[in-house]
Amino acid sequence: MAALDIGPGDFCEEHVISGKKLAKRLRQEIAAEVERLTELHGVPPKLVTIIVGEDPGSKMYVRMKHRACKRVGILSEGYQLPENTTQDELLRLIARLNQDATVHGILVQLPLPKHIDEETVISAIDPEKDVDGFSPRNIYRLFYGGELLTAATPQGIAMILDSLGVDLDGMHAVIVNRSTIVGKPLIMLLLNRNMTVTVCHSHTRDLPSITRQADVLITAVGRRKSDEDPYFITADMVKDGAIVIDVATPHGDCDFEAIKCKASYITPVPGGVGPMTITMLLRNVLAAYSFQLAQTNVLTTYAIDYGSYVS
Ligand code: GUN
Repeated sequence: MAALDIGPGDFCEEHVISGKKLAKRLRQEIAAEVERLTELHGVPPKLVTIIVGEDPGSKMYVRMKHRACKRVGILSEGYQLPENTTQDELLRLIARLNQDATVHGILVQLPLPKHIDEETVISAIDPEKDVDGFSPRNIYRLFYGGELLTAATPQGIAMILDSLGVDLDGMHAVIVNRSTIVGKPLIMLLLNRNMTVTVCHSHTRDLPSITRQADVLITAVGRRKSDEDPYFITADMVKDGAIVIDVATPHGDCDFEAIKCKASYITPVPGGVGPMTITMLLRNVLAAYSFQLAQTNVLTTYAIDYGSYVS
């Protein structure tokens, strides 16, 4: 995809970063590219999602993913499997989708029921179709700086930071989260931008003394501290002029109104990181599709060349 034509901080108003506006702009770019490539290749990109069980949250997120696909011209298809689906049945479905050349992206919504091993299932997805970026091959690529398909939320956070036009090189980033979906991939994305990265979690001692050192503070705790004192991140925990990215949903971790006065930039909840996450999934589907079709075209060319020598 062509580089975005955006100026530093184009998506900010009074220190508040609008992930919603940035996402809207990116989705327009994605839709245009989907249209161009569909015309070029004669087949549209296609995402297949799989849910096992009846988790209402998973169903809602997956519905949002399908809706977003439709809006940018990506085909999507969903498998809703019963809770008692066996791991073997799920692996057989994934093997079939891996082989299906009309399917460019496969997404197994997490969490899976307890009797299914997530790692085994994720590892079974063809890495070139792994639009979540969770498979070992894509983690390895991220580790070595050759990102192809990277987890959507960390990628959205990195894109927000890039959109600010701030020189991130050498800045101290503090991440309050160590999950495999957010915190761990984010470490690599920020290291790949030459940032100094500290990771905090539930066992961290004296969290405020660490968050106060952050030039960029990224927080994704995602639950209220207590009824009287709901915010994990209060204004006294933030350095003057810091960039604050609040990933938590449905309620932010940050005391937004108080921190807004101190931070150079801050993301709101909702309307900050949230809209960027699904946008990055769309971007991954487009990247997977482009990558797969480029490979197909190379193979087709070889086949034709080979044929012409044989005859
Ligand atoms: N469950 C919560 N977040 C995600 C995500 O980003 N991808 C998948 N597949 N499942 C999730």
